[in-house]
Amino acid sequence: MSDKKFYITTPIYYPSDKLHIGHAYCTVATDSIARYKRLQGYDVMFLTGTDEHGQKIESKASAAGVTPQQFVDNIVDGPRGVKDLWKLMNISNDRFIRTTDDYHVESIQKIFKKMYENGDIYKGSYKGKYCKDCEAFWTETQLVDGKCPDCGREVMDAEEEAYFFRLSKYADRVQDLLENTDFLEPRSRVNEMVNNFIKPGLEDLCVSRTSFSWGVPVDFDPGHVVYVWVDALFNYMTALGFLNGKYDDVDKFWPADVHIVGKEIVRFHSIIWPAMLMSMGLPLPKKVFGHGWLLLDGGKMSKSKGNVVDPYILAEKFGVDALRFFLMRTFPFGSDGNFSNELLIQTINVDLANDLGNLVSRTTAMVGKYFGGKLPGACREWAAPEACDTELTEMAKGLRDRYQAAMDAYAPHKALDEVFKLIARANKYIDETMPWALAKDMDANGKRLAHVMYNLLETTRICGVLLTPFMPESMDKLFAQIGACPCCRSWDSAARWGTLSDEAEPTKGENLFPRVDTEKALAELEAAAEAAKKAALPPLEIEPYTEEKVDFDTFCKSDFRAVKVKACEAVKKSDKLLKFTLDDGTGTDRQILSGIHKFYEPEQLVGKTLVAIVNLPPRKMMGQESCGMLLSAVHTEKGEEKLNLIMVDDAIPAGAKLC
Ligand code: MSP
Repeated sequence: MSDKKFYITTPIYYPSDKLHIGHAYCTVATDSIARYKRLQGYDVMFLTGTDEHGQKIESKASAAGVTPQQFVDNIVDGPRGVKDLWKLMNISNDRFIRTTDDYHVESIQKIFKKMYENGDIYKGSYKGKYCKDCEAFWTETQLVDGKCPDCGREVMDAEEEAYFFRLSKYADRVQDLLENTDFLEPRSRVNEMVNNFIKPGLEDLCVSRTSFSWGVPVDFDPGHVVYVWVDALFNYMTALGFLNGKYDDVDKFWPADVHIVGKEIVRFHSIIWPAMLMSMGLPLPKKVFGHGWLLLDGGKMSKSKGNVVDPYILAEKFGVDALRFFLMRTFPFGSDGNFSNELLIQTINVDLANDLGNLVSRTTAMVGKYFGGKLPGACREWAAPEACDTELTEMAKGLRDRYQAAMDAYAPHKALDEVFKLIARANKYIDETMPWALAKDMDANGKRLAHVMYNLLETTRICGVLLTPFMPESMDKLFAQIGACPCCRSWDSAARWGTLSDEAEPTKGENLFPRVDTEKALAELEAAAEAAKKAALPPLEIEPYTEEKVDFDTFCKSDFRAVKVKACEAVKKSDKLLKFTLDDGTGTDRQILSGIHKFYEPEQLVGKTLVAIVNLPPRKMMGQESCGMLLSAVHTEKGEEKLNLIMVDDAIPAGAKLC
């Protein structure tokens, strides 16, 4: 194994909800970089995992009627959970940490104690806003319109005993780190951190809570649990075995080469994290890269807005590699980008189906047609290269360096752009050389044609090597189709023009990236999203009970009677209303209008014995009078409103009082 080592991490995910395409974006990016490093011969450690503690998980579990551990187990390990998603997306993580793992908890307790003993953690009191109903503390900034962000109720001022980390002590050193090194990238994020957080004055950080218990217990002070971000950030070291016996990789892999994180958590990674490492006397990671967000219609993806995009649906519909590619190709890695299904389909059709897919299928088909599926040998040595040959081969020879420069600058979108410029050049080369015209006279042009085919295959091979970190499975298929042996797939070979054998035997195989019918796919996606949304709904919901009490006398004033349906018809010009003619035992017909046409056809109801409240004041609806109201039972099933009229035994006579 090589002595070149590379340790790369993704943020560990909150398993409070299922993951969406924004989470997949971050993990696919990290995976592509990890695969790129492995391709270069690095001994890579790629870590991901889940951040499972905290008040939010505790409240969600209690709302779901399960323990916090059962709650997170289901989202992490359960069907279509976090681990399943990473498997589906072909994520090649070497390790997966859960902050509820025993070894991690053990390390966090030791870390907390160490910082307490070195005087960087001290006891004080935490002032905040408290929501009585959720039993939750919030900071001023977490409130939504001054109210509890979870339940929307009023909050009150409150205080609890807590431990604090001396973040303020490290302000100067952290500022120096940010301003005078390449620790944080892109560079624009440095100003944001320094101007918004450090310059206004870094306050000490509250690092324990007593108002909830789902966290790592502070072992020397029962009742306190460690603040979730302290617990979470140290995962990058505990997963290597720091202060636990589970692994022994700290010396080998720490400091990390890069933490890839989303922009909203750059603050934690570039201020709090280095400060805590300084406190512990530990080496700092070499880099934090803060990528942008995938947005939907210019706004944040969120469960509350109901606009989250399910990566399972997209991967199953378009293929994992197409989705991975789209995410990396389309959005500049450091900036925000607007996600849309239209853009996804367009990228698949233009880049993958048209440009790359066609290059492979045309080339392999032509070698089949003109040379019986095997290059005739010696096709590299063509005595008289034309301008287009040189242009293509020079571009191909320099591709690896341009790609590497972009990848090393954490700009995978630029690396892919370089590859696709070459693919476009190769397609143009087919038009320029017109192999079909050459093939008309094989005696005169056979050698030239073989040379052209070789150039196309070799260009495709080089692109294939460099696309492997992004689309590993499809590139395996591509190599098989162009007849590339394993030594033609290495990093070194990507800079070595002429590696492919000139007796290669390509075969036209299955279409690597089938074209997507946009309209059909969009309609199917909409239907799938609707079905998934429905499936996620609770199977049965009933109306919440009314807390307000009704006194007995008031209740007794309501006059409920059995009524028999003599006639029933739809009210003209109304979608909802049915008009009932009822025998109420008085000898005079009673008319009631009821908005239940969505649930019943009139003819279903004639002859039935129903229950009505008959002493409501008459009301006019659509110009017709309604004298009372029919009783029904309502509930919601998988998000759909259900209604059943209360029907009683037909032996009950019309007018019988119900009490
Ligand atoms: N648990 C913390 C991380 C602790 S790391 C020590 C956390 N988890 S998270 O699940 O909320 O987010 C995980 C990552 O997903 C973050 O980097 C976040 O930026 C990223 N994304 C969440 N939504 C995103 C988009 N819409 N677009 C891109 N990335 C996004 O934060």
